[in-house]
Amino acid sequence: MKVQSYLVLAIMVLFLSTAFAQNALDIYANAAEHRINKNIYGHFAEHLGRCIYDGIWVGPDSDIPNVNGYRKDVLEALQALEIPVLRWPGGCFADTYHWMDGIGPVEKRPKIKNVFWGGVIEDNSFGTHEFLNLCELLGCDAYVSANVSSGTVEEMIDWIVYMTSDDDVEMANLRRQNGREEPWDVKFIGIGNESWGCGGEMTPEHYADLMKTYSSYARHYGGRDLVRVGSGANSGDYNWTRVLMEEGARFIDALGAHYYTIAGEGWHNKSSATDFGEALYFRGIQQGLRIDELVSTHAAIMDQYDRRQRVGLFIDEWGIWTNVEPGTNPGFLYQQNSLRDALIAATTLNIFNQHCDRVRMANIAQTVNVLQAMILTEGDRMLRTPTYHVFNMYKGHKNALLLPSHLVSEDYEFDGQSIPAISSSTSLSDDGTITMTVSNANPNKAIALEITVVGKMISSIQDGAVLTAPAVNSINTFDQPDVVKPAVFKAFQKESDHVLTVELPSKSVVALSLQCK
Ligand code: AHR
Repeated sequence: MKVQSYLVLAIMVLFLSTAFAQNALDIYANAAEHRINKNIYGHFAEHLGRCIYDGIWVGPDSDIPNVNGYRKDVLEALQALEIPVLRWPGGCFADTYHWMDGIGPVEKRPKIKNVFWGGVIEDNSFGTHEFLNLCELLGCDAYVSANVSSGTVEEMIDWIVYMTSDDDVEMANLRRQNGREEPWDVKFIGIGNESWGCGGEMTPEHYADLMKTYSSYARHYGGRDLVRVGSGANSGDYNWTRVLMEEGARFIDALGAHYYTIAGEGWHNKSSATDFGEALYFRGIQQGLRIDELVSTHAAIMDQYDRRQRVGLFIDEWGIWTNVEPGTNPGFLYQQNSLRDALIAATTLNIFNQHCDRVRMANIAQTVNVLQAMILTEGDRMLRTPTYHVFNMYKGHKNALLLPSHLVSEDYEFDGQSIPAISSSTSLSDDGTITMTVSNANPNKAIALEITVVGKMISSIQDGAVLTAPAVNSINTFDQPDVVKPAVFKAFQKESDHVLTVELPSKSVVALSLQCK
């Protein structure tokens, strides 16, 4: 048979497979164009509730086992997660933060009131040194948010010099005096946070002017140019993105955007993190999927002003936001984390991977004890949430090449509404491994998925991992920390050189790796 005939046959097989298999995923193994930036798997830690204090930092004198003040259990769990980048100190807190309060001898640091989060007294015992040393312990990049609305350009410049300069200048010498000889390798600087809201209630035009001024001074002091991140839009506020791109695209290297999933009626009643049935489950997944449209639209607007895609889109806050756990401080945003939240994380990360040409960072809110956390703590106890496990299962995507794919999925229907049941993304890492992450949102039905690898032959399929649990609202507790945890996944079958079938359990996330030739 001639080459052309083989080609025609292959195209027909492909067409027939997607036309007739109800659930089919075609992966184009030779068509990679874009790399999945590892920073899509980034995190966020704010001076909010028990994220920093109690969650990450207990101080060196604590009875809780610690490494120079960092909780040992949390540190080890985060190290195992290999987090690529950590955003700090906020959030809304960032625009009230004066960095000089958080340096020098701890007993001399001024106390302030944390006006946004519970009105508690912040003693500044966790400051610049504690944060940047944490990043070094975690082996991750630092993303520092500068105070734009209640700070000054001078204050920001001094901070940058303090952190990054190796020169014989006042701020670098102050750092040395405070015990740190070498500058830190800070990579990202946020120019304010939510400047349309808690960060100053600005119009986009007003913020654009400030952004240009701050950005003009936000680099060139240390060994590298900082990546300057403009404070981005609230969810679907496309006008914000348009104005900033039009007015200031050349002054920034990335533009943020924030999106929180709310399953309940709205901000006034976000609904319980644990006490929900199928209606709130469905709505949570459905609202989570909205991020696809938001990212596509923000990216399309950015394309109009930045055709070469120089400016990255950073979704520097995302995740599900529920009512707080009963009996906890409403200003601390402490919520439990269920299998539903793991599915939201899985589908969202698949969406970010699919948009990796523009989305180059994302920071789930937040790392410990706040919102959709990786880790919860209580006294000296700690647990890994279902969302933690998703991040662990998706590790293979970091810095891998996105493989284009075409997914045909049956719908998951509830109460007259429907969403696609399956979500997926696939990537090829430099060592040749193909990582596939697939989820089935339907809580009532397992789904058989036929996967065709186009352009390469499957040589082996490794046992994968599956995350599921008895119920969509199953959670891990301090007494039962492993109710929702990954198990070995073997429910796959190689059908031919190019085709495998996978049986996705109901309400599950699956990660699989293949070797192809
Ligand atoms: O993550 C909690 C808060 O949500 C952040 O401080 C703020 O930026 C956003 O509104």
